[in-house]
Amino acid sequence: MCGIVGFVGTNKVKDVLLDGLKELEYRGYDSAGIAVLQDKEFSSYKAVGKLDNLVQKVADFDPKGFAIGIGHTRWATHGKPTELNAHPHLGDASYVVHNGIIENYQEIKNELMAEGTHFLSQTDTEVIVHLFEKYLATEATPFEAFQKTLAKLEGAYAILLATKSMPDTIFFAKNGSPMIVGVNDEGEKVFASSDAPLIGHAKDVIYLGDGEYGFVSPTALELFDKRHQRVKPSLTPLPTSKLSAQKEGYRFFMEKEIYEQSDVISDAMLGRLQDESINFDELDPTLFDGINEIKLCACGTSYHSALASSYLFERYAKVRTSVEIASELRYKEPLLLKDTLFVVISQSGETADTLETLKMAKAAGLKTLVICNVDNSSMVRLADASILTRAGIEKGVASTKAFATQMTVFWMLALYVSQLRNTLSIEKIKDQIHALREVPNSVKIDDNLHEKIRRLSKRYLHGHGFFFIGRDVFFPLALEGALKLKEITYLHAEGYPSGEMKHGPIAMADPELFTIALMPKGLLYDKTKSNVEELSARDSTICAISPVTFDKADDFIQTKEHGHYMLEFFEMMVVLQLLSMEISVRLGNDVDMPRNLAKSVTVE
Ligand code: AGP
Repeated sequence: MCGIVGFVGTNKVKDVLLDGLKELEYRGYDSAGIAVLQDKEFSSYKAVGKLDNLVQKVADFDPKGFAIGIGHTRWATHGKPTELNAHPHLGDASYVVHNGIIENYQEIKNELMAEGTHFLSQTDTEVIVHLFEKYLATEATPFEAFQKTLAKLEGAYAILLATKSMPDTIFFAKNGSPMIVGVNDEGEKVFASSDAPLIGHAKDVIYLGDGEYGFVSPTALELFDKRHQRVKPSLTPLPTSKLSAQKEGYRFFMEKEIYEQSDVISDAMLGRLQDESINFDELDPTLFDGINEIKLCACGTSYHSALASSYLFERYAKVRTSVEIASELRYKEPLLLKDTLFVVISQSGETADTLETLKMAKAAGLKTLVICNVDNSSMVRLADASILTRAGIEKGVASTKAFATQMTVFWMLALYVSQLRNTLSIEKIKDQIHALREVPNSVKIDDNLHEKIRRLSKRYLHGHGFFFIGRDVFFPLALEGALKLKEITYLHAEGYPSGEMKHGPIAMADPELFTIALMPKGLLYDKTKSNVEELSARDSTICAISPVTFDKADDFIQTKEHGHYMLEFFEMMVVLQLLSMEISVRLGNDVDMPRNLAKSVTVE
């Protein structure tokens, strides 16, 4: 999830680009860059790390008069965070910035390299500008070259391209990644990935739709749809508050990130989900050679995704899988054997306890893998291999979309390992892939569901505590639901295996004990139902979450029937996230920055 800006106008290009990138830093900041075209000459600057590094680099750059410019702040998906991989990417006389993933970039890159094109970066993006310049030589106009370039691309993209061939024009295209065009009375044009960078520079905006593309100049704004028909732009007034713009209309970053889960899960799957197989470009299959056990290690929410995935690894890949809490593993003098693949999971890649266990595993000579959301983090730099979750920046301290993308990656990874170990037939792999493709839909939220959860939340503001209960992968989900509640409402909650309640905790059952029961139809429903009935019989207040109507509950949240229990997992995950958020709102807490917590715990 990167940030893109663009500008066509006079005297303001550097400020508009840098201010815009500052507003977009929440979308990614492992590197940044700008390219400005003025008097048919390009000036381009790039810097790794925080945006301030770029600001310092361009301190003496002061373009006056008319110019066009494009800028980008990067959240690495292909290629390490380096200056060479930073955008904008240069052809011979054109620059491009891009947000998204070009799924067929390797095929295009191979073709271009075979024709003699030299690539500087490891990114998927660079193929766009070289393809454009290839077609510049054959097509009648630069715009037709741009059209032909788009026709070749598969995947998600928001693109801005500037070329000396048309020095007053920016070409743009949007498919799957956000892009907004702003216009003002001076004929200036401003582009950005979201509203915030446009505020103060545009009066009205066009929220581009998928498949739309075109070009702008001081005197033109030409827009075409995916059928290549000219479209009359529909202008919308721009919001005025930058912070609310960053939240894109949501009340909290946490709410925005819950609603973003469908998109970022799609990003996490891009290029990895083939028709009949799972593919991780970033993994060398030999990483799994000689491995008889997978040991997963993490903290907090990341521990919960690890615990849930352990069921999938054993069920589908038939590989022994153990799960450790990092702060425990550090001091228990663990048995770390070389036939164990040590996998750490971390949104930030900086959690001290988890990082220390990674160092322990490396010191013991184990092969290591990190599943992480931040490419230039300590864990990614230290592990033998890494898989990025592509959730984009997660600003809410209570993790949501990071967990969702971790689970998505883990489901794919369990199938990837099952392919290496030949433990599932092609047909079964295809069935799993079919279910995986439904995950983005399973986390889409309809207003009725959210409104029902908001109304229902008023009943759960007191009591002497919550039990979240589930079986199999729904037990780690119950743990995660309990953690979400604790983090942002400060109410006591406990995740528990449904089958364990009768071994003690049921003694607590009374109307003041709230039980949130995860009752998937597709996995051990009858077993779970009887556990919940035991609680109901002892007058515990029960909120049942299930596709199957359950009349012994005090509250009931109906979820959808799905063809796979993991789709029920993802849908119930959203219900639990929204429930905690709405209770927190009613209690008047700071949803995004709960007391006593930090987004990344870099101390013991
Ligand atoms: C999640 O809601 C919490 N904020 C916290 O438990 C977090 O998951 C934990 O600190 C681990 O962080 P990491 O994923 O960045 O390593």
